[in-house]
Amino acid sequence: MKKVITYGSFDLFHEGHYNILKRAKELGDYLIVGVTTEHYDRSRGKLNLVDPIMTRIENVRNTGFADEIIVEDHDGQKIEDIQRYGIDTFVLGTDWVGKFDYLKKYCDVVYLERTPDISSTLKRKDMKRLIKLGIVGTGRIARRFQAETIFVSGIEVVAAFNPEKESLEKYAEEYSVLPFSGDYDRFLGSVDAVYVASPNETHADYVRKAIIAGKHVLCEKPMTFTYDEAVELYNLAKKDRVVLMEGIRAAYLPGFQQLLSVARDGTIGEICDIEACFTRLGDPESREMSDARYGGAFMEYGSYTMLPIFKLLGTDYEDTIIDSILGESGIDRFTKVQFRYKNKLATSKTGAGVKSEGQLVISGTKGYILAQSPWWLIRSFDVRYEDESRVDHFEAPFVGRDGFRYEIAEFMDKINGTGGNDYKLTAEESIAMARVVEKFMSIRREQQGF
Ligand code: CTP
Repeated sequence: MKKVITYGSFDLFHEGHYNILKRAKELGDYLIVGVTTEHYDRSRGKLNLVDPIMTRIENVRNTGFADEIIVEDHDGQKIEDIQRYGIDTFVLGTDWVGKFDYLKKYCDVVYLERTPDISSTLKRKDMKRLIKLGIVGTGRIARRFQAETIFVSGIEVVAAFNPEKESLEKYAEEYSVLPFSGDYDRFLGSVDAVYVASPNETHADYVRKAIIAGKHVLCEKPMTFTYDEAVELYNLAKKDRVVLMEGIRAAYLPGFQQLLSVARDGTIGEICDIEACFTRLGDPESREMSDARYGGAFMEYGSYTMLPIFKLLGTDYEDTIIDSILGESGIDRFTKVQFRYKNKLATSKTGAGVKSEGQLVISGTKGYILAQSPWWLIRSFDVRYEDESRVDHFEAPFVGRDGFRYEIAEFMDKINGTGGNDYKLTAEESIAMARVVEKFMSIRREQQGF
């Protein structure tokens, strides 16, 4: 019996997919089709899949050509599958010519002519209207964000807003976007959605006005400093039916999703404690290192350290203890927040001007998960056990340097209604973070003697 294998995402199933499966089947007696998981696609930079995996599998099955359907979820799996299933012929379309020649050691490799003028990418473009995005604030972070927007289809940055003209004009020229410096309403009138990357204390006002104007909003963390304001903004967004998303990048990375799945699936038993640490020795002149009111360690990095805690232990902790040591400029140089849950504990450690081991440790009754620095840009993690010789290593790569494109893709999925519900960072979790920030700020004000 001659066995053939082929792979694909098979998103928005089309004629090109049908044709290649038909011809692949004709090359042998038994056809195995590997369908990619969303997680695998995301890790290799394919960010805008529309159909969930069950739909994609079902569509492949409905052709009647596949004798067996398997799931492809990691690099290197093709060699494993070829050996495991005793494959004679590996098939892919001509868009991949040469790319899989390394498999010739194991079986025949055949590239079949692609069906012209059709692809999932084209179908996705037809489905989506182009979202015109405006950026509020034109500093460092805006530049990094802007550079990544080109990797996500369906979005175009068309305008920038900043009351400071000099910075705005430089930015507008560099990126060919329309500059707006005085009239925020007019800026809003020129876009469908905004990304707010202005100084922390200005976030909430920009967000509120954008929502009221009917625009979708992606806002840098922390979005607000108070519980009430966070509730107000999420309610407003719900009422006005626009997307409101807090930009905590780690939440949208494929590796972080995988870490959460492993933590939840019982591998380490019952979770008893989480320790998340994020420190940086930044430029003493920078806003985060010098702004005693709105900068400092917890304000800058606390959203990251609270993220795994709230995702895994929930938001209904019983108590928090917040302690900081202040630096010369009055910022909190180091802040420790301890969360007490019913029978569970968690600690967030953040430092601006203090260096420590930036790791995430999730301790359970059977073992622990260790994600090393920089776990907020997670690419791999380990599960470790009492038996030190046993370590399960998980590779969870992502494409790009700082993960912005995953956050942008999620924002687009939400706007287009293709992203499912907002399980990656819920309004409730974001509101819970604002509550801690509020408590932290009042304690720090007292400490500072304001
Ligand atoms: N394919 C084809 N003809 C097309 C489109 C795809 O023969 N017009 C083949 C690909 O070469 C691949 C398989 O179908 O062997 C699955 O491809 P997949 O990447 O899922 O489909 P695309 O339409 O190419 O998806 P995308 O646009 O997202 O890259």
